[in-house]
Amino acid sequence: MNVTVTGAGGQIGYALLFRLASGQLLGPDTPINLRLLEIPQGLAAAEGTALELADCAFGLLASTTITDDLTQAFDGVNVALLVGSRPRAAGMERADLLAANGRIFGPQGAAINAGAASDVRVLVVGNPANTNALIARSHAPDVPADRFTAMTRLDHNRAVAQLAAHFDVSVTAIEGVAIWGNHSASQYPDVFHATVRLKSGERCFVRDLVDERWLAAEFIPRVAQRGSEIIAVRGASSAASAAGAALDHVHDWANSTPSGAGQWTSAAVVSDGSYGVPEGLISSFPVRSVAGHWRIEPGLEIAEFSRARIDASVAELVAERDAVAALGLLATQ
Ligand code: NAI
Repeated sequence: MNVTVTGAGGQIGYALLFRLASGQLLGPDTPINLRLLEIPQGLAAAEGTALELADCAFGLLASTTITDDLTQAFDGVNVALLVGSRPRAAGMERADLLAANGRIFGPQGAAINAGAASDVRVLVVGNPANTNALIARSHAPDVPADRFTAMTRLDHNRAVAQLAAHFDVSVTAIEGVAIWGNHSASQYPDVFHATVRLKSGERCFVRDLVDERWLAAEFIPRVAQRGSEIIAVRGASSAASAAGAALDHVHDWANSTPSGAGQWTSAAVVSDGSYGVPEGLISSFPVRSVAGHWRIEPGLEIAEFSRARIDASVAELVAERDAVAALGLLATQ
């Protein structure tokens, strides 16, 4: 399998590539040709990482190519992890940030369209992830739309971990959490369908054990602002947990998720209009992976508390979409 990682010389790249090459992305039986895409000033860091990858002597790592050429990076690609993006610099307006990233993700989408394998799967990690994925997808008219996704799995994992800590149980005792909307501070971590297996062994709905004040004042901000908390405590942004979530996303996409009640996960996928999210928007939903495709979990009842929060995050996505459309960054709509 040809796996392309953009921004390979960055923090997430460094946390991701070793686990990926050890088999945690596609399993222990799938050899990988790695393509590391960087901008010229990032090539040396990517080369350094590649030296260390060689020194790990991973049996699955068939080859490593380091390049700043989009055609070479995406030719025959089966899995594309689009991590590199333009961070917000001091004084940068939102429109400037969207425009700078449009200039990255438009050409990457076009290169994927031109050269990718027919089964390509794309995960956008680089922020603003949902809208970057939307831009890339619009430049890839020949690739099925559902192959473009953005990462909210880190938010999902954070929500699960926070609930587990709250109830003092293992993360394996939590099911049915969902992240809705944008991978931003407006995201909505929804526990209204979540259950917890308490230490007593009893499985209960989380909504019966917590009140809306705790959700609004503590849980939701804690999950949504966890990235800032990590930066404040660690002095650097979350890279290892982001890398872990990217591996989880692609692993589940390629291998399917369990079929039991509530055993879904979260990913930003192309909306089919479900739950009032405008069709075509790349928004986070509760999803299951079935036969290699993400399926939005149908038929969930949306509490009033949830509805307003989902709508607010989706409105932010609509505004981002309209802004990049106005900047001429969407090739098709
Ligand atoms: P970083 O700054 O350490 O590394 C980014 C790398 O991307 C740099 O080496 C840079 O040279 C490279 N790059 C920039 N433009 C590029 C281009 N056009 N083509 C190829 N490479 C390019 O950043 P870090 O910590 O690795 O984070 C990467 C992105 O992931 C950021 O946008 C960050 O906000 C985002 N992120 C997303 C999360 C999510 O849950 N969706 C979670 C955490 C981070």
